[in-house]
Amino acid sequence: MTIIAFVGAGKMAEAIISKLDLPSNIMAADVSKRRLGYLKKKYKIGLAKDNQEAFAKGEIVVLAVKPQGVGVVVAELAPQLGKTKQVLPLLVSIVAGIPLGYLRKKLPGLPIIRAMPNNPCLVGMGITALAKDNLVSGRQYKKVEAIFKAVGKVIGVPEKWMDAVTGLSGSGPAFVYETIDALIGGGVAAGLPRAIATKLAVQTVLGAATTVKKTGKSPKELREMVASKGGTTVEGLKIIKKARVKQALSRAVVAAANKSKIISKKWTS
Ligand SMILES: NC(=O)c1ccc[n+]([C@@H]2O[C@H](COP(=O)([O-])OP(=O)(O)OC[C@H]3O[C@@H](n4cnc5c(N)ncnc54)[C@H](OP(=O)(O)O)[C@@H]3O)[C@@H](O)[C@H]2O)c1
Repeated sequence: MTIIAFVGAGKMAEAIISKLDLPSNIMAADVSKRRLGYLKKKYKIGLAKDNQEAFAKGEIVVLAVKPQGVGVVVAELAPQLGKTKQVLPLLVSIVAGIPLGYLRKKLPGLPIIRAMPNNPCLVGMGITALAKDNLVSGRQYKKVEAIFKAVGKVIGVPEKWMDAVTGLSGSGPAFVYETIDALIGGGVAAGLPRAIATKLAVQTVLGAATTVKKTGKSPKELREMVASKGGTTVEGLKIIKKARVKQALSRAVVAAANKSKIISKKWTS
């Protein structure tokens, strides 16, 4: 049984804990005792008295605090290296924007995986990108893959792609939420009650994404299937083209990726 210890037991840690159905032993550490009490009661997990205990006992230690908390946590964990156990734990950081290089420098000798999950992991429909350093064994990587498969899909990437991944799948859910909101607004403006517009918009986005996935056709091919000449859809597409909506969405991804790059640089300097 693998002992998985969470350092920071907030929303993302709970999303993973709630879906894990592996032969594993889960424990968590958090500054909030109330939070820990809630998780223990709801998921029957073990509690660590502090971050050091989670680090000492976990075979896989998932770092799941906010970026501003990382400095404090690594300073607590670093003195533990070498004195806790013979086999070092595998560290999995889900903290956005913190490069492997920073963690490697602060916690030398530890095998580390940097993970970028996204908001739909909260409902088991996320996608997580994993970038590993060269101390991680194939077996360790597979275990971590299994953890994130519990909350969605998993994709392995080189770390140099992490900023782009952050811009697309990390920030992307917000762009899609905006799109859904806009579709709902359109439905309401066209005369529908909000509840009906919401139901139609949500299933339309879910259905369109599933169609891209299941047919293997490109979004462009599928768009052409829907937009027959002289029909209703082309009227809407004309507006989208004129307002450069596609370009704006692409630029949003690039802007988010660039911001991620700037944040990451702060941690390497
Ligand atoms: N949520 C997402 O969709 C998402 C997606 C991708 C990546 N991430 C990454 O996942 C990480 C966690 O995000 P989240 O949304 O789960 O945040 P969260 O809900 O705020 O969880 C963080 C938890 O860590 C606790 N904490 C703070 N300082 C600590 C310390 N020194 N030692 C132990 N625990 C400490 C916090 O307690 P207090 O609240 O009392 O401070 C909180 O319970 C972030 O770094 C974020 O970048 C999140």
